[in-house]
Amino acid sequence: MSTHKHYTGLIDRYKDRLPVSASTRIISLNEGNTPLIQLQNIPRLLGKDVNIYVKFEGLNPTGSFKDRGMTMAVTKAVEEGSQAIICASTGNTSASAAAYAARAGIKAFVLIPDGKIALGKLAQTLMYNATIIQINGNFDQGMELVKEVAEHAPVTIVNSINPYRIDGQKTAAFEIVDDLGFAPDYHCLPVGNAGNITAYWKGYTEYARDRVCGNRPIMCGYQAAGAAPFVAGHKIDNPETIATAIRIGNPQSWDYAWAAQQESGGWFDKFTDAEILAAQKLLSQQEGIFCEPASATSLAGAMRDIASGKIPEGSTIVCTLTGMGLKDPDTAISQCAAAHPVTIEANLDAVKRAILDTL
Ligand code: F0G
Repeated sequence: MSTHKHYTGLIDRYKDRLPVSASTRIISLNEGNTPLIQLQNIPRLLGKDVNIYVKFEGLNPTGSFKDRGMTMAVTKAVEEGSQAIICASTGNTSASAAAYAARAGIKAFVLIPDGKIALGKLAQTLMYNATIIQINGNFDQGMELVKEVAEHAPVTIVNSINPYRIDGQKTAAFEIVDDLGFAPDYHCLPVGNAGNITAYWKGYTEYARDRVCGNRPIMCGYQAAGAAPFVAGHKIDNPETIATAIRIGNPQSWDYAWAAQQESGGWFDKFTDAEILAAQKLLSQQEGIFCEPASATSLAGAMRDIASGKIPEGSTIVCTLTGMGLKDPDTAISQCAAAHPVTIEANLDAVKRAILDTL
């Protein structure tokens, strides 16, 4: 028998810091252990002496960071005897919930805003065979409905109001410290429902408490301009942004996110759709890293704050890239319309001409 020890997911790796016992049946798809990639070309373009790393969460099994929380939430739901899970979603939570429900052999119900889900996320959720309930409303309305229905039906909520989701997601902070050997000076991430900023802060706080690292990073939460309740200081009724993942006006982890900002000495800021898409394109073209639009908000924020000096030279900065680019092919293709592929005759001369034309 092979004694080769292979990676079996974040619960196994961090079981001492998670609410599981030796008899817990772990529902895992080998999530976590995502790469921390140092940017090489963008810092040079900025002309600043900074170390920027991206934590590429798009390389999780369903293509987003949600898998970290979902392995934990579904493991506990199954342990507690639940036969069905439910969530409201802008697309990634629903894809993840559907996958882990399939893995566990239980049912998943997902409420999504009709017409506001990126194509890749819809395709996944259909394939994993969740029951999709599209609503004529936004994520915030879906979230309220999920909370109400869970009081009347035998379903476990797997949105980030489920504390096991936060526990699973805090492992991303552990991995960053384990990889770097220290905590970064700044941690930048997109904020929607605010579960992820809550989870990172919990993870860093736990590691600092146990002296795994000496400091905790300053937390920078970045939002889309049309969906920026933390910048406004109050909830928003009709959030709008091309970054549909973070099209949220009433974040559930409101108080926890403010605590992370205040205790870390961090800040919230907002970015137009054009700025978000520019950052997404820059990351693809300069570094070869393709994330979804919402994820690029973290880089847009880091770049603005590095350029202004708010984040000083000499800093180590980690940006979370929450989801992968293939989630939203429509937005990617429509952004590159000007560089639309040309079609030519299938002969050598035509190919030569096509190459020489671009040199
Ligand atoms: N980035 C992506 C790609 C997301 O899908 C989300 C949230 C966020 C950032 C924001 O994270 O909510 O923890 O502040 N997506 C949820 C969903 C709402 O339903 O998939 P957050």
